[in-house]
Amino acid sequence: MTPRKPKRPQLPFSDRPSPSSPTLAFLTELAGDGRALEFAIGTGRVGVPLRERGVPVVGIELSEHMAAVLRRKIDEDTLPVVIGDMATTVVPGGFTLVYLVYNTISNLLTQDEQVECFRNAARHLEPGGRFVIELGVPPLRLLPPGQVAVPFDVSERHLGFDTFDLVEQILVSHHFTREGEDGPYRRENSRHRYAWPAELDLMARIAGLELERRVADWNGSPFTQDSTKHISVWRKPA
Ligand SMILES: C[S@@+](CC[C@H](N)C(=O)[O-])C[C@H]1O[C@@H](n2cnc3c(N)ncnc32)[C@H](O)[C@@H]1O
Repeated sequence: MTPRKPKRPQLPFSDRPSPSSPTLAFLTELAGDGRALEFAIGTGRVGVPLRERGVPVVGIELSEHMAAVLRRKIDEDTLPVVIGDMATTVVPGGFTLVYLVYNTISNLLTQDEQVECFRNAARHLEPGGRFVIELGVPPLRLLPPGQVAVPFDVSERHLGFDTFDLVEQILVSHHFTREGEDGPYRRENSRHRYAWPAELDLMARIAGLELERRVADWNGSPFTQDSTKHISVWRKPA
């Protein structure tokens, strides 16, 4: 049987593409002559090549393990990383750019934590500085009434589907990955709080930031009602 692989126009949690040059160009332009702070820098997928383009980058990361993987690529003086929660951790100095990509604001599972994250971004920005988020649009149009799950991958070795708690705005991605030729299947889940762009705009207002731009991808394509993700830029008033 030919494996079916439904298009998953939503939060691409399971693949980690290298950042494209439009991503790096977008962030480099916004950083200007200043410094950039990456919330949840992970293994430096974006932060390391951005630093290599000449932008001074500092990272905040919750996981010591992820930071250790980053450290194999670049030394502490060139790209400092502070271990802590992006919603509350404060690093010294001002920044022209704070960015949080790859859907990672959804790792904060309550509205309060997400608001704190916006406040923390604003705290680090110099006047005129920008906060950038990359996030999927909640894929609720794929969930008709009565349906409990939305598949996003049905292939030989992997079955993946999302379930939703519409009251708490929680999406759980379920992964069943076959180990070896005949199994067994390894099961993994990840929980995320989804938020509409308009809710993020209110969080930004609470933090004293103004929406400057919203586009559908790093190339700057227009954001429309069919867009499956957005790149949003909020600005701290000068
Ligand atoms: C999907 S990865 C993205 C990493 C990187 N930004 C990238 O684009 O490749 C999510 C990262 O967020 C980190 N993370 C999750 N919650 C966090 C929090 N509250 N504060 C800081 N980092 C967090 C995880 O440890 C993980 O490294």
